[in-house]
Amino acid sequence: MNNGNQIRTLRSLVNSIGFEGHSLLSINDLSNDQIYGLFELARALEPWNRSAIPLAAGSVMSTLFFQPSTRTRMSFETAMHRLGGAVISEANPLVTSSAAKEESLSDMLKVVSKYANVIVLRHFDDAGAREAIPLSEAPVINGGLGHWEHPTQALLDLYTLWRQYGRIEGLKVCVASPDLIEARTGHSMAQGLARLGAKVTLASTSAKRIPDEVMHKIKAFGVAVEESFDHTQDSFNELISDMHLVYLPGCSAPKGPEAEKFKVLMDQYFVRHETLDAVREKEGRNIYVTHTLPRRAGEMDLCIDNSPSQLYFEAIAYSVSIRMALVAAVLGV
Ligand code: CP
Repeated sequence: MNNGNQIRTLRSLVNSIGFEGHSLLSINDLSNDQIYGLFELARALEPWNRSAIPLAAGSVMSTLFFQPSTRTRMSFETAMHRLGGAVISEANPLVTSSAAKEESLSDMLKVVSKYANVIVLRHFDDAGAREAIPLSEAPVINGGLGHWEHPTQALLDLYTLWRQYGRIEGLKVCVASPDLIEARTGHSMAQGLARLGAKVTLASTSAKRIPDEVMHKIKAFGVAVEESFDHTQDSFNELISDMHLVYLPGCSAPKGPEAEKFKVLMDQYFVRHETLDAVREKEGRNIYVTHTLPRRAGEMDLCIDNSPSQLYFEAIAYSVSIRMALVAAVLGV
């Protein structure tokens, strides 16, 4: 296919998604058809995720990150550069922007949206951010809001899973963390998986089970979802032996005196590489493991890094393609 035809095909995929001008705050802002449309577009864009295709030439993305980030900010910025657009970034706005002079987030969004065609926002205060976002003149993409949702991490993990299996429906996935209250990625992923027909098991401590608000939404999709509480490391590894994917969303680890207690809990959700190897040897099937990263020392078995189960570094490359697809769909190139 020549370049003109390739661009026409990509434009037609973008238009068929029908998401131009929309903000993405929750994974539920996308219909299932739109999620699959983004997957198809992302796959079509994969050949350019190390080069460039000028679908967004002339557009500007602003990345406003009020919390630290390596992957989300850099992969969005990479995606915009690969699409031929420009990026204006605040990686530490509480120090380097007028937020340091107590400018409100709503004023900041009103101003920045006069410059940028799309804004990617990470903020510690999800309620405040959700109140301010409607005042932006440009669409806003949630790059992680408080403990609420991180929809594009879920989108990239769903896309990675779809690229491995060619489907999401019917896959058994365990979303596991000692604390599913503060795991914003876990909230988005559990809802995305359920929406697309996966069989979801939520493993956590009973004290920090997934919030009722998220559980109600999952159940409203009319799918089977199970909760599984208070595991030992042995019982957790038995549980995951039956899965296609173990999803480790990470969470905010407490600091100070609570940190040691939390490490003991984290140890109960430790995926042993021996568990994965045994299933591979006995049943001839692979259990994938993905962690949204960053990970802490002792949180997972590093032997998995060099095994067929490792999906977390594979997801990094896919993250550029799916974020290219999302940005193109929002800009409506
Ligand atoms: N997974 C994720 O959100 O990573 P960053 O915090 O580095 O963006």
